[in-house]
Amino acid sequence: MSLGTVISTFEGPSTSRFSFVVNSSKLRKGEFVSLGDSNPLIAVVNEVRRANRYFERAETISEYEKNGSVKTDFPAQDWEYVVADCAILGVFNGSSLSKNSFPPSPGEKVVAAENSILKQFLGFEDNGLKLGKLMQHEVPVTPSLTRLLQKHLAILGISGSGKSVCATVVLEEALSRKKEAGQIGVVVFDVHGEYSCFADKSNRDFADKTTVVDGEKIRIACHKLTPIMLSMIFPDLSGVQQRAINSILKELTKKMKDGAKAFDLDDVVSEINASKMTQNVRDPLLSKIEELKQLRLFSHGSFPIVKDVVKSGKLTVFDLNALTSVKKKQIILAYFAQRLFNQRRKQKIPPFLLLVEEAHNFCREKASAENAVSKSIIETIAREGRKFGASLCLISQRPVQLSTTALSQCNSYIIMRITNPFDLKHIAESCEAIDSSVSGQISGLQVGEGILLGEAVNYPVFIKVRNRATRKTRGGHSLEELGRQFEETTREITPSDVEAFI
Ligand SMILES: Nc1ncnc2c1ncn2[C@@H]1O[C@H](COP(=O)(O)OP(=O)(O)OP(=O)(O)O)[C@@H](O)[C@H]1O
Ligand SMILES: [Mg+2]
Repeated sequence: MSLGTVISTFEGPSTSRFSFVVNSSKLRKGEFVSLGDSNPLIAVVNEVRRANRYFERAETISEYEKNGSVKTDFPAQDWEYVVADCAILGVFNGSSLSKNSFPPSPGEKVVAAENSILKQFLGFEDNGLKLGKLMQHEVPVTPSLTRLLQKHLAILGISGSGKSVCATVVLEEALSRKKEAGQIGVVVFDVHGEYSCFADKSNRDFADKTTVVDGEKIRIACHKLTPIMLSMIFPDLSGVQQRAINSILKELTKKMKDGAKAFDLDDVVSEINASKMTQNVRDPLLSKIEELKQLRLFSHGSFPIVKDVVKSGKLTVFDLNALTSVKKKQIILAYFAQRLFNQRRKQKIPPFLLLVEEAHNFCREKASAENAVSKSIIETIAREGRKFGASLCLISQRPVQLSTTALSQCNSYIIMRITNPFDLKHIAESCEAIDSSVSGQISGLQVGEGILLGEAVNYPVFIKVRNRATRKTRGGHSLEELGRQFEETTREITPSDVEAFI
């Protein structure tokens, strides 16, 4: 389809840019266009503007105004034209783009880039993850599993922009892969209980592949409490206090290995009381152990067992929706992520994707020491995970609060609508792949629309994420629905209830 004709302007055509007069009302900013038949030149429309030479001079305006802006003898409207400014991306040589060394000629016809060429030059694959389609073209967005996830993915956007739906689509695609296409295991740290629905019978394709771990039932065995973990949970312990508690834990673990039964925090308390430590060491330690007991997390044994959490082609959802303590959630994530990473390094479990919702709460840029329990493991996986097949998918609505280290180690990004200038600035600073032409358009995106950029694709593209296939059972209800639900589940107190109570 012809879109227009290249014009000669002050700046070009040059080897990097050109402009053309548009003859189609359908042309949109961000669209890909091409010139020439064999080995076409591919370009992207960076801006579309209107021009009218009649209105360039001040005196024509007064002439125009005199006539009441309605009709002059001069056909001013006929002089109006639409110009598209394009950046040249390269010459398509049949498989990829090579550098363009010669400018296009004024007068050349501009047409819409062919879908098959776009697919190839953007690097989409037949057996890639079907995330949706390009916004300006009927081209499916299908980045390969490796390119999208191996070097970590960040999904960023304001609340309600479609991050969780996008993450759900990524999971659906990752879990639908056949064995021969290469599968990975998926683990989700789900703070709002949005992913448990994968296990619902109504989601037939996924129910059998999904295990939901109830956050309240998660336990960590006391003998797995390492000195490093303790110092992360309680960064304010003095050196003496740390040595004291570590030696007690070591002693109890040794006894356990020698045949005694597994111990819990009450045993640790008894051991502290029985020890000869001074009061200024004992009292703070006892109060710390009491704090740990309040979390109702540490026990005789662990649940779930780490090696059961990751299985090829399967999903484990840690449903942390019912937990209110941020610290408890951080400890759970830190413990399991650390173990999974260690096991993966030793090749004891399959490669996996770790999806973290509300990542800014687990890996904060400016976290106080006691709020940074899970930060270091997320940063470690972000830095080293790709070598071992441990990938991260970080989801956040407050990128400015997300660790720069973790964010800059993500090599693929799906950026949905973001309006806060601080968040935009932080993203632009952390992600090499973003330039000003891209960041300027992020605030105008609609729900479900985003920009895919980085490792996953050869050139940043605007995408419309497909809707989820799995049915959602919880969360995201309207106020009206929540009100109705409340009314239905709570009934009025009747006289018989009062009687029964008395
Ligand atoms: N790709 C899409 N196709 C159709 N509808 C969508 C799409 N993405 C989002 N929506 C709609 O927008 C709603 C909000 O999306 P979602 O829950 O993914 O937002 P979010 O960015 O995760 O928000 P929050 O930060 O509050 O968790 C969805 O319930 C759905 O109705
Ligand atoms: Mg969400």
